[in-house]
Amino acid sequence: MNMSTNAIEIKNISKKFKTYRNKESHLKYVFLNLLKGKRSRLHSEFWALKNIDLDIEKGQTVGFIGCNGSGKSTLLKLISRILYPDGGAIDAHGKISTLIELGSGFHPDLTGRENVYINASILGFSRAEVTKKFKDIVDFSGLEDFIDNPVKTYSSGMYVRLGFSVAINVAPDILLVDEVLAVGDENFQKKCIKKIMEFKEQGKTIIFVSHDLKTVEELCDRVVLLHNGKLVKQGKPVDVISEYHRLLIGAGQLQVRKEEPRQGEGEPRDRSNWKNRWGSKEVEITGVQFLDLQGNGLEFVKTGQPLRVRIAYDAHKEIENPVFGIALYSDTGVHITGPNTRKHNFHIAAIKGQGYVEYEMESVPLLPGSYLFSAAIYDYQGLQAYDHWEQHWKLHVLETPEMPERLGLITIPARWSLGK
Ligand SMILES: Nc1ncnc2c1ncn2[C@@H]1O[C@H](COP(=O)(O)OP(=O)(O)OP(=O)(O)O)[C@@H](O)[C@H]1O
Ligand SMILES: [Mg+2]
Repeated sequence: MNMSTNAIEIKNISKKFKTYRNKESHLKYVFLNLLKGKRSRLHSEFWALKNIDLDIEKGQTVGFIGCNGSGKSTLLKLISRILYPDGGAIDAHGKISTLIELGSGFHPDLTGRENVYINASILGFSRAEVTKKFKDIVDFSGLEDFIDNPVKTYSSGMYVRLGFSVAINVAPDILLVDEVLAVGDENFQKKCIKKIMEFKEQGKTIIFVSHDLKTVEELCDRVVLLHNGKLVKQGKPVDVISEYHRLLIGAGQLQVRKEEPRQGEGEPRDRSNWKNRWGSKEVEITGVQFLDLQGNGLEFVKTGQPLRVRIAYDAHKEIENPVFGIALYSDTGVHITGPNTRKHNFHIAAIKGQGYVEYEMESVPLLPGSYLFSAAIYDYQGLQAYDHWEQHWKLHVLETPEMPERLGLITIPARWSLGK
């Protein structure tokens, strides 16, 4: 009997793949090598995973996250022995059930029914056992009417439904689920998440790979971040997800909505008319910076941290009674708020030449995500725009362990109490 508290032990695992050259560059390569008197190779090597060490404790739900191509699926395939490593070893204790790729393990010409039997037998079930489970599997998949059709006629979502139903109904000790759930419709996704939660409660071990970070955070006890085939961080979900976002920001990959904002009743704004900046320009906004209280520039801010927004200007002549304002939008275009100096009774008598105005938040109330800032300078009545930049600056907000809320846009300073 194995007394280990680990369900899976991954020791110094590496995996390489061959990448093939295209014909033209291959010929060049062969030729150059002939000149050099070397033997040529058709392919070069590429390490998809490099020296991964990781223990997965029994009963834990662990999320794998990371950019496309970072090695998540490869690692799952190594754990489930669909692939073999080029270095290191993996020990898994318990029966593994895997839901990895669309229809992996399904034979396209066979019916759903036949595939269920084959699939379950690969997972170690006898025909009699499958027959006992068959109704549950089909019920969960919701594919009663299609179960005797060849699976090649199934939609992607139907594939996943059947695959997940088999994977979940064969009573594994360890469940590996890759991305695929995203293909199912919303109802089915919810059903799967519920089932995964039940699994968790039964003390089974789960590895969950997904780009849906909200679900990862909700579901997982621990999260592992892979980047370029290396394990770069593991730990509490909120910390690792925050690190992943930081990494994306560093790579310039955290995108704020690209399409133009919607106007009025959700009518898409005509691109040709969309003006991001307008005004008479006697005074111009020369930049907006996000700073900490020491005046250091920030690439991102965490929920609850202080933030100083500096609006730099250049007044080409003396401007009396200018009003500075900002507006804040979610990345889906929701207008969150729009403070200005006049409404705050912060009166600026006149400006001339270069300078800046700062707006300081004691505690950023925004939940993690990407936000857009507008900044503007108007005359005192708010009738004339000197310079208005609409939703031009991006601010990334990262998670902190302290925040009480998770979903939505803002956190509210508040308390609960119980009364009678
Ligand atoms: N069979 C294969 N042959 C060659 N290269 C492969 C093979 N499988 C994966 N790779 C490469 O290994 C790297 C890691 O791929 P993997 O599928 O593990 O990424 P991933 O983290 O699951 O990405 P995604 O988020 O897009 O699913 C990629 O560069 C991929 O091109
Ligand atoms: Mg993958």
